[in-house]
Amino acid sequence: MTDIREIAQLGAPVLRQKALPVEYPASPETQSIIAAMFATLASTQGVGLAAPQISEPWRIIIIASRPTPRYPYAPLMEPTVMINPVFQALSNDMVKDWEGCLSVPGLRALVPRYKSITIEYQDQLGRTCSDQLVDFPARVFQHEHDHLEGRVYLDSVENNHDIFAESEYFKQFAGTTTA
Ligand code: NI
Repeated sequence: MTDIREIAQLGAPVLRQKALPVEYPASPETQSIIAAMFATLASTQGVGLAAPQISEPWRIIIIASRPTPRYPYAPLMEPTVMINPVFQALSNDMVKDWEGCLSVPGLRALVPRYKSITIEYQDQLGRTCSDQLVDFPARVFQHEHDHLEGRVYLDSVENNHDIFAESEYFKQFAGTTTA
């Protein structure tokens, strides 16, 4: 696993563009982008990654919820590649919790997200898959899906007072929150 890419940082135009649909999920080109995403994500403490974050403007995300020093209370789930992912809220229930982003280093913020969602995507063989996600994995999905729309989590913050320096976040909240 040597294809570790640089992670696009806030201000990079690729993070503000709408990503393009993947026409051939099983193609070698798509597989090599996915391999680079896995290698890059594994080199970080992140729990998800979207293709635009490695400057690939395609609708591909990885959800990899796992406990890390960055997210000590993240539930462990099998890392999942989702191609052309879409979602619908299962109810109007929104939950606010802390998020960070590898493309926005040094900050954390409280972001409202739908608590439970149904999702549909294609896997690496091009098969259509669907699932329901609740709480933290649902949050990670919505965060990564935002990247495909050219949005970052700071765009969804309701009040600037909900934005913290990461060092202050860890000082005040580490050990007490779920994200
Ligand atoms: Ni992000």
